[in-house]
Amino acid sequence: MSFKIVIALFISALFWGQPALCQPPKVAIASAHPLATAAGFEIINKGGNVFDAAVAVSAALAVVEPSGSGLGGGGYWLLHRAKDGLETFIDAREKAPLAAQQNMYLDKDGKVIAKLSLDGALAAAIPGMPAGLVHLAEHYGQLPLATSLAPAIRYAKTGFAIGNRHLKQLKFRADLLKQYPESARIFLSEGQLPKAFSILRQPDLAHTLSEIARSGHAGFYGGDIAEQLLESVKLAGGIWTAADLEAYQAVERKPIKGQYHDLKITSAAPSSSGGIVLVEALNILSGYDLQKTDGITRKHLITEAMRRAYHDRSLYLGDADFINIPVNRLLDAEYAAGLRRSIALGHATPSSQLSGDNSPQKEGTNTTHFSIIDDQGNRVAATLSINFPFGSGFVAKGTGVLLNDEMDDFASSPGVMNGYGLVGGAANAIAPGKRMLSSMTPTFIETDQQVAVLGTPGGSRIISMVLLAALDFADGNGPDSWVRLPRYHHQFMPDVLEYELGALTDAERQALGAKGHTLKPARYPYGDMQAVMLDKRQHSLAAASDKRGEGLAVVGH
Ligand code: GLY
Repeated sequence: MSFKIVIALFISALFWGQPALCQPPKVAIASAHPLATAAGFEIINKGGNVFDAAVAVSAALAVVEPSGSGLGGGGYWLLHRAKDGLETFIDAREKAPLAAQQNMYLDKDGKVIAKLSLDGALAAAIPGMPAGLVHLAEHYGQLPLATSLAPAIRYAKTGFAIGNRHLKQLKFRADLLKQYPESARIFLSEGQLPKAFSILRQPDLAHTLSEIARSGHAGFYGGDIAEQLLESVKLAGGIWTAADLEAYQAVERKPIKGQYHDLKITSAAPSSSGGIVLVEALNILSGYDLQKTDGITRKHLITEAMRRAYHDRSLYLGDADFINIPVNRLLDAEYAAGLRRSIALGHATPSSQLSGDNSPQKEGTNTTHFSIIDDQGNRVAATLSINFPFGSGFVAKGTGVLLNDEMDDFASSPGVMNGYGLVGGAANAIAPGKRMLSSMTPTFIETDQQVAVLGTPGGSRIISMVLLAALDFADGNGPDSWVRLPRYHHQFMPDVLEYELGALTDAERQALGAKGHTLKPARYPYGDMQAVMLDKRQHSLAAASDKRGEGLAVVGH
């Protein structure tokens, strides 16, 4: 029996006999793990709103998908509240410790020390996830935090069956996890990979979640948990202090807004680059009639728009609390028109010809996303991360909290390319208390009739995936199509057009190559998009979960 069937049976048992089954569906939830989707519905059934459900799904993902996000990480929640139209973006991105220094990952010759910003306690930034959960529940939920955290606490205590995706990510980081006894004890089985479907129990994590349920923000950033975190991190060579934990707060930002033909876009604000890069690329593309354009030209134009928008990412984007980002200019239609004029129909623009800093920057590929909408249009798009699969690999003793390695999303040194090859510079340099630049792109797309909520993990490719989905929406397709789309991606540097199997036909590959694009097949399918949609006129909901993952999308009560 496959993992999906096992979990589907479990979920149907959960919903079996619910009185709401005979009522019209009220909520759509799509997440990367069936138990997280189930946690959301459990809270809706307890009288929670979509924001309570979002707390439950986020906390559940922290337990059942520890490779992607967790209490030791951070993330973003994009919210829309129907009753007053409020739209806000909760930024709970991790922050560099106050003792962090710009050159902390460089040797005496100024060279990046391999893995120092990726593995172990020194790679970990101050987590934002617990603060984000508390903020979301206190400001927007209607149930007590303890109620919304209950499913996650139960999953952590009683355990859950691990699937193939978990095992694949575990395999990728097993050598690292082995180095830390606490991590090995929790995630490995006598130092080896556990068997598929074996039960993962996390009692320490259940305790930490219970402390947050009991004491809110202080349950994690103060008291015993904080002491244990600080002691463990210090012993393992990290630089966290009590002042870091005391100071951490999630903040609300104004979402980035844009328009593409009749689509209204609402997306992530800095400290993520997602919204600005997405809207800038759409602004460039809005000058073409892509629906009437042949496949080769369409893909060429989309690639060129990606190239230019990611180029600006590398030059201008970072934590807006630390640098001035020319947001208005980057989102301006005239600015996009100028970039559009630089695109030649007949040939690719070599990235080296775009002016500015070509120095490489860093970014991870893991992460998770979920989308929720109800029949009133209340909605949440949330993308959460601990960066690489299983983050830094380091669990703070006694807490069950796996720490992030989000420090790697800073530009440790201009000019040095990381495993993912994004480029950046001074705007995203390390500074004490600064948030590192992200690509997470939780997004709403709206027409007069429809509202879509979507996003995906995938490091630097997140933004191009959301872009392709937005263009597919513009073509009249729905969530099933967006999550299934074969994907292609250009991020300015490296100057390659990467494509999934099936994304480009033979003829398209040949023609794009002839235009000067350097084509590279993706080594594996990427992304795990979770999307939901409300049709306002038909009062219907739809949901879809990427077939590349093991998630579950449900339209229910
Ligand atoms: N660590 C992945 C991102 O923030 O984009």
